[in-house]
Amino acid sequence: MKHVLVTGGAGFIGSHVVRRLVTNYPDYHIVNLDKLTYAGNLANLKDVELNDNYTFVRGDIVDGAFVQELFAKYDFTYVVHLAAESHVDRSISNPIEFVMTNVVGTVNLLNAAKHHWQGKYEGRRFYHVSTDEVYGSLGDTGLFTEETRYDPHSPYSASKASSDHFVRAYHDTYQLPVVLSNCSNNYGSHHFPEKLIPLAIHNIVNRRPIPVYGTGENVRDWLWVEDHARAIDVILHKGSIGQTYNIGGHNEWKNIDLIRLLCSLLDKKLHRKEGESASLITFVKDRAGHDMRYAIDASKLKNELGWIPSVTFEEGLEKTVDWYLANHDWLQNVTSGDYMHYYEQQYVKR
Ligand code: NAD
Ligand code: DAU
Repeated sequence: MKHVLVTGGAGFIGSHVVRRLVTNYPDYHIVNLDKLTYAGNLANLKDVELNDNYTFVRGDIVDGAFVQELFAKYDFTYVVHLAAESHVDRSISNPIEFVMTNVVGTVNLLNAAKHHWQGKYEGRRFYHVSTDEVYGSLGDTGLFTEETRYDPHSPYSASKASSDHFVRAYHDTYQLPVVLSNCSNNYGSHHFPEKLIPLAIHNIVNRRPIPVYGTGENVRDWLWVEDHARAIDVILHKGSIGQTYNIGGHNEWKNIDLIRLLCSLLDKKLHRKEGESASLITFVKDRAGHDMRYAIDASKLKNELGWIPSVTFEEGLEKTVDWYLANHDWLQNVTSGDYMHYYEQQYVKR
């Protein structure tokens, strides 16, 4: 049985990755290491938490000694590293947390892999999950390729860029068998409602103002989270060592157009008059250093590994909206902080 470490598996994307690996690979033992920050939520994994091939470990990747002990306990074949502070706005108000988790935490994991694998790298993989934000901001045209020069603007993207550089440095210096991917904006179920799409859904449902930064002209390239999880699965198993793969949905939307689409979808679902939800749109002060446009060229992943997105945006967005409407309790718990009690109850009981 292969032991596979997934970091940040209680978060948005991590929980989809854990579910996929636990379900599709019964001969893998998935160890989910997560600190359970405000963004980590074990309720995201209720459906797989009792599986025999799944173990949850609460811990902090910034604690180097703890990370070394975990690697000594389990002889990991693969590491899939997603744990991070992930919200740009929080990075603007508290950059140091981002340096600690995203940079120091990543280097702790690299050190542990290097130490425990002892140069016996056959079959091993250290997979670092990164973001398109490291490439900076595009003008009206062009796409980010794997060769685009790094040009991060926020403390979040600077910390992710730094971690990417460390991962490549450990490959070049110590031959650590690394693989990286840089993905565009994800959307889907279990997304913490501080991010645009779940926040807008939550506010529309509750008839609260929908805050749109600046003019709403900024463009993001949206990918359904389950397609990202599938891309991670493909790259983990078939990607070439030392390589980077861009992942994206070929799906660019101006924020304001996306919000209008969501309003109109929710008007229908909630039996409101057309235009009722759009009246909640409220333009607010722009984000500092706000990147204008992200767009990914994912042709390397398509041509070399055969991955393409499986759903259209309309399909993915409708699935997402339906999930939030059907999981009102999840949203309530997350927004009230009650989900933290879930962990204590669930793990004290057993
Ligand atoms: P998230 O904020 O939803 O989840 C992050 C998880 O990491 C949480 O469960 C949290 O508890 C855990 N964590 C944070 N600090 C930790 C620490 N010190 N030790 C252990 N665990 C810790 O994030 P997400 O949106 O799921 O993003 C996951 C990864 O994917 C990140 O590396 C992010 O940079 C990258 N990414 C995200 C997107 C996106 O659109 N959300 C797009 C591209 C790449
Ligand atoms: O591109 C990948 C990145 O996508 C990931 O690396 C990040 O972890 C993830 O958070 C996301 O970053 P963004 O900053 O693009 O996502 P966010 O949902 O915060 O914002 C999306 C766009 O919407 C952005 O242009 C800012 C704007 N926005 C956001 C919020 C929260 C608003 O207009 N109003 C809001 O209330």
